[in-house]
Amino acid sequence: MKKTSIQIETIINLLREGKPLPEEYRWLLFEGKQETELIYAGKTRDVDVLTETMAVPLQKVKVFGDVKDEEWHNMLIFGDNLQVLKTLLKMKEEGKLKNADGTKGVRLIYIDPPFATKQEFMAKNGEKAYQDKIIGAQFLEWLRKRLILLRELLSDDGSIYVHLDWKMGHYVKVLMDEVFRNNFLGEIVVGRIKKSDKNVKFFNTAIDSLYVYSKRADIWVFHPVAFKILKKGYWHSLDAPGEGEARIFFGKLISPPPGRHWMWDQKRIDEAIEKGILRLNPRTGKPEYWVEPEREQYLDSNWTDISAYSFTTGFPTEKSEPLLERIIKASSNEGDIVLDAFAGSGTTGAVAEKLGRRWIMIDSSKFAIYTMIKRMLNLKEKIGNKGKPLKPRPFAVYNAGLYDMKILKKLPFREYRKFALELFQCKDEPHTLAGIELDGYLGQDHVYVFRWKKNGNGKTEYVMDRGFIDNLHSILGNRIGKRFFIIAPAASVMFLEDYIEKDGIRYYVLRIPYSVIDELHKKNSKALKQPTADMNVNDVMEQVGFDFIYPPDVECEYYIEDRGGQMELGKENKEAVIRIKGFRSNIISKKPIPEEELGLKSLSMVMIDYDYNGEYFDMDDKWFASDLEKNNYEIRFPVEKLTDRMMIIYMDVFGNERKEIKGKKDFKLKRK
Ligand SMILES: C[S@@+](CC[C@H](N)C(=O)[O-])C[C@H]1O[C@@H](n2cnc3c(N)ncnc32)[C@H](O)[C@@H]1O
Repeated sequence: MKKTSIQIETIINLLREGKPLPEEYRWLLFEGKQETELIYAGKTRDVDVLTETMAVPLQKVKVFGDVKDEEWHNMLIFGDNLQVLKTLLKMKEEGKLKNADGTKGVRLIYIDPPFATKQEFMAKNGEKAYQDKIIGAQFLEWLRKRLILLRELLSDDGSIYVHLDWKMGHYVKVLMDEVFRNNFLGEIVVGRIKKSDKNVKFFNTAIDSLYVYSKRADIWVFHPVAFKILKKGYWHSLDAPGEGEARIFFGKLISPPPGRHWMWDQKRIDEAIEKGILRLNPRTGKPEYWVEPEREQYLDSNWTDISAYSFTTGFPTEKSEPLLERIIKASSNEGDIVLDAFAGSGTTGAVAEKLGRRWIMIDSSKFAIYTMIKRMLNLKEKIGNKGKPLKPRPFAVYNAGLYDMKILKKLPFREYRKFALELFQCKDEPHTLAGIELDGYLGQDHVYVFRWKKNGNGKTEYVMDRGFIDNLHSILGNRIGKRFFIIAPAASVMFLEDYIEKDGIRYYVLRIPYSVIDELHKKNSKALKQPTADMNVNDVMEQVGFDFIYPPDVECEYYIEDRGGQMELGKENKEAVIRIKGFRSNIISKKPIPEEELGLKSLSMVMIDYDYNGEYFDMDDKWFASDLEKNNYEIRFPVEKLTDRMMIIYMDVFGNERKEIKGKKDFKLKRK
């Protein structure tokens, strides 16, 4: 924006005198700022969010149906959505995310983020922050970063629906005005579960809001949505108070009832008879007109006729299918990509599937991922999960940020190399230097992906010692700059330093996993914390970096307890019990984690598939650690549920799982 000479002079003078600039100079000096903006401590620049967010590769862990790598398939991704969104953004740039009409990006985004109402955010000094402002600010910044990436992911004619409640909603609305450059389409109010409670200090909250924005100001996909209303048709009499004459109905002269007159003149009566509106009411025998049941009405922004919530999966905060049906029908076309970055129980994917849309769902909780797998494999074709079973189109489950080393080890080197380069966001550019095959660049510096060798007995060898660096230095030392990068699995590196310096050149080892590196990346790596109680399922989660799965150690006793007598005819009063005697998380972290944090305290939850099919885990039951603690770490279920093959998953708070298969035979009878 051009400044006048007076303005420039005033600014210079104020700066010289060490005085603060008046507020209005904000808008004069910083382009792109709008008239209203939410200011809070710790707000980063848009561009920094986009450039500093780390993309993480997607590791395919399970496929359902005929998934072909090179072809589109729906995606269920476990990980922090911030990092995953950055990865999806790269896919968009590479032309891998396209809507039915070929437009790049995703057409529709629905998000239902945690509302951050139970959260205690940390103040800078590490103490819990009790001030509302700080609580709000940290949540807002956490969400804003995601909104910025979501905006970039949308196709040019795409739109986003953000589901919020009355506590944070208005702040987020202001943020969204900023992130979506005032392309506000409107606010929709949706109904919450109806409550009628006399003992309240204020009215119960009856609504949530959806804030809807388009990516651009001039175009967006929108189809008005008609819905049926359930009014009955009814007869309406044609007479009104006052004297009047008889008229001709169906060729007969009929007088109005005494003291009344016909409301219509003869012309209108004849027309109505012709159109079939006016008939003889068979009950009264009088000429009356029939008011059709109103079948269709177009939706306005008041959606309180449906509840936004539903309870079909056992996942707290599950949203309803009719809600998503309206959103998806209104703002996408068949074949388009619909994204939910806080997918929870998977309502968005379930409805997208039913309406012939493609979908991507992300969630940072394993519990949510298992809930979604189960849901997608038990779909029914109608909204509200009714009707005939519906087989979902092929989809794949991915890990992002927390990887399965076993799968990685099985990859051919070519694919491992690609994965490793992506992990550290290196440029994939194979080149040769002094006869050594190098793999790419990090900035200007060379990158080498450590090759896994087969030793004499055909086993893979993973060792990188100081001798390896000496050797490399003797060959490359005078041909490279001040830094050289080697990507290697942490377990294969025989020294502890992050780099080894030789003649002023630093040989950095980028260890996989990330949790043990802190030299290069300014941000400390942070694992995703899994919920330990039902009420934490909706917590805000964040991860920086990536890690491998380190299955925790679990020691259990399995038995059947005979509680005596019979429950009901033919049903014994016996319970199967799994008693957790010991639990230890094996997470590796550069910053030591106190031992007591790694024991039972690190248990997040236990999940069971009673009739494991050997193919995939189909969650049937779950126990959060907080409930287990109350029950002496005993898991109890009716003995009838025992089968020959069950899968039990014990998960720590970092998302690492120990999976075990047990059967009836492992549970021995024990009398009380
Ligand atoms: C309110 S729930 C969503 C419920 C969902 N709309 C449904 O119909 O079931 C919010 C979800 O956000 C997830 N979440 C929280 N932080 C996240 C993050 N950083 N990345 C991805 N998911 C996150 C939680 O695990 C939770 O499942």
